[in-house]
Amino acid sequence: MKGILFTEFLEMVDQKFSPELTERIIDQVDVPSGCAYTTIGTYDHTELVQLVVQLSKETDTPVTDLVRAYGFYLFERFVRTYPRFFSGIKDAFTFLEGVESIVHAEVRKLYTDSKPPMITATRQGDDKLEVIYESQRCLGDAAHGLILGCVDYFGEKMSVERQDIDDSGSSVRFLLTRAS
Ligand code: HEM
Repeated sequence: MKGILFTEFLEMVDQKFSPELTERIIDQVDVPSGCAYTTIGTYDHTELVQLVVQLSKETDTPVTDLVRAYGFYLFERFVRTYPRFFSGIKDAFTFLEGVESIVHAEVRKLYTDSKPPMITATRQGDDKLEVIYESQRCLGDAAHGLILGCVDYFGEKMSVERQDIDDSGSSVRFLLTRAS
């Protein structure tokens, strides 16, 4: 998985907790990279899982909550880092409909070693959008947080229901309903 997802995670721990805690979890995990991440490097996604599990122990917070909070944080960071994907886009549905064909398609082209998840967005009427996340990395909680971050960014009133399609977490369905 691209290093930007690791550097942003550690940055979030710095900001939401403290740089001392970031150092501590880095010291406690035993990962091949030694946590010396660069944004364009590629690392095994299980390193991120180990860091989150360690953070969960240190903060006594469920892993699910931490990964979702990370997804939420990441969305705002993506807005700042890649503003061109957001210019001219007026609402969350329009943005989410383009994640697969525009955003992740470009990520795949730019970084041939990347494997972004499959995000399938389908309108179910004017005020409903179904978003399906599929990835062997089982980061549905991160997808959940990213979707909540997206709704927040566009300032819309929306309910987001989540349904796990399989037990492994590799496939998750979200139903977004816009409040009228
Ligand atoms: C709300 C919309 C989005 C969702 C739900 C989403 C979901 C995800 C998730 C959960 C991952 C982790 C890897 C995995 O699960 O397999 C991921 C990877 C990634 N996403 Fe997205 N994403 C969204 C928007 C974006 C945006 C806006 C960008 C950049 C502008 C982006 C760029 C990336 C990159 C670079 C990766 C790493 C791929 C790799 O290293 O293999 N995503 N995405």
